[in-house]
Amino acid sequence: MKKLAARDKHTIWHPLTQHKLHPVMLGIEKAHGVYLYDENGNSYIDAIASWYTAVYGHCNEYILSRVEQQMRELDQVVFSGFTHRPAVELAEGLLKILPANQEKVFFSDNGSTATEIGIKMALQYHHNSGRKRPVFLAFEEAFHGDTFGSMSVSGLSVYNGPFEQWLMEVERIPVPTDDTVENILFDLENRLRRGDVAGFIYEPLVQGAAAMKMYKASHLERILKCCKKYGLITIADEVMTGFGKTGKNFASDHLSIPPDIVCLSKALTAGLMPMAVTTCNGEIFDAFYSDEIHKGLFHGHTYTANPLACRAALAGIELLLTEEMQDNIERVTGSHRQFDQRIKGHPKIAQTRQCGIIYAIDLDLEMERYGKLRDRLFQHFMANGVFLRPLGNTVYIHPPYIIQEEELEKVYQTIESAIESID
Ligand SMILES: Cc1ncc(COP(=O)(O)O)c(C=O)c1O
Repeated sequence: MKKLAARDKHTIWHPLTQHKLHPVMLGIEKAHGVYLYDENGNSYIDAIASWYTAVYGHCNEYILSRVEQQMRELDQVVFSGFTHRPAVELAEGLLKILPANQEKVFFSDNGSTATEIGIKMALQYHHNSGRKRPVFLAFEEAFHGDTFGSMSVSGLSVYNGPFEQWLMEVERIPVPTDDTVENILFDLENRLRRGDVAGFIYEPLVQGAAAMKMYKASHLERILKCCKKYGLITIADEVMTGFGKTGKNFASDHLSIPPDIVCLSKALTAGLMPMAVTTCNGEIFDAFYSDEIHKGLFHGHTYTANPLACRAALAGIELLLTEEMQDNIERVTGSHRQFDQRIKGHPKIAQTRQCGIIYAIDLDLEMERYGKLRDRLFQHFMANGVFLRPLGNTVYIHPPYIIQEEELEKVYQTIESAIESID
């Protein structure tokens, strides 16, 4: 029987891939805990938790057992006109841990749809209230997904460049630093006075796809304050940062100003099932609550609130809130801090940064985002049994919370040897 990699080549079109340059995929047979196992008998520490999803470890026994039980009771049912126990319990569970102003939970399938729905809620909120606000506000270099609304509010890049002429009108502001925040606020206030901006979408504290770019909560608070002054709906895209990554349940918990809307996916279902939610405050829901049918939010996906995904998410939240998992998050955060002390003065390193369990190193090298040097680094990591995906000259770690100290040490040492191997 031919290997998966060979069969894949004849049939599958992969995401984020130029197949002519990268024709061969690695066949993964199994995953357990922090390990991925390929079809050639090799294992790899999954040091990015499979794009920030499997934070409690792959094929987590507790989550599997809860989903298995659910499978025998209710697999899938239409979510328009019907409801079900896993969805109700999940909505209640999420609202208990989300910022206190959040009141309603809208389900969808992935991070892009979560933000797309957030954008639609903001636009229609103004539309239903009779206001014309066609413009959106977002950060430069943001990434919010691959659907048209979410592409529009993402920074222009290889992802959305070909579609530019079809994207919504978006005003982009730089991510604030100590040096730039005053100017950004000055310009923003002038811009928002025109009264045509519907909402502001942001990745709080950490911009994942911008190579884990980090910025201060205090600067974001000032921008949010300005947005609220001019009636914008604020949308926290916590697709990447949600569920403990930043050291609190949500990155928004580091801020004194809560968002109007929160988008969640990825670790929501702990890597087991695709699902997302967009939550909102009561004021937004009320703007859709009407005797007029067209004022409702007419957005819905076939698998909305799939019971198995809801059950996986509920089990994930239970795990997140245990003392053991909170200790794990603290432990990993502390280990990164120590590693940072060890490595940050290295002559080949330009900068390091950390937010909770997310740690990033910028190498002092010019590198294309998916260029040859980046590929060499990637190969080095894989050859040493560590799955890391450098983005240009940035190497970042986002491990499952359950990673053990010796496994983390292996990740650190592999990064050190990779740095030595490049010039
Ligand atoms: C902050 C953020 N928002 C949205 C998305 C899109 O999520 P998905 O890939 O599930 O569509 C991502 C994906 O990386 C993300 O990091």
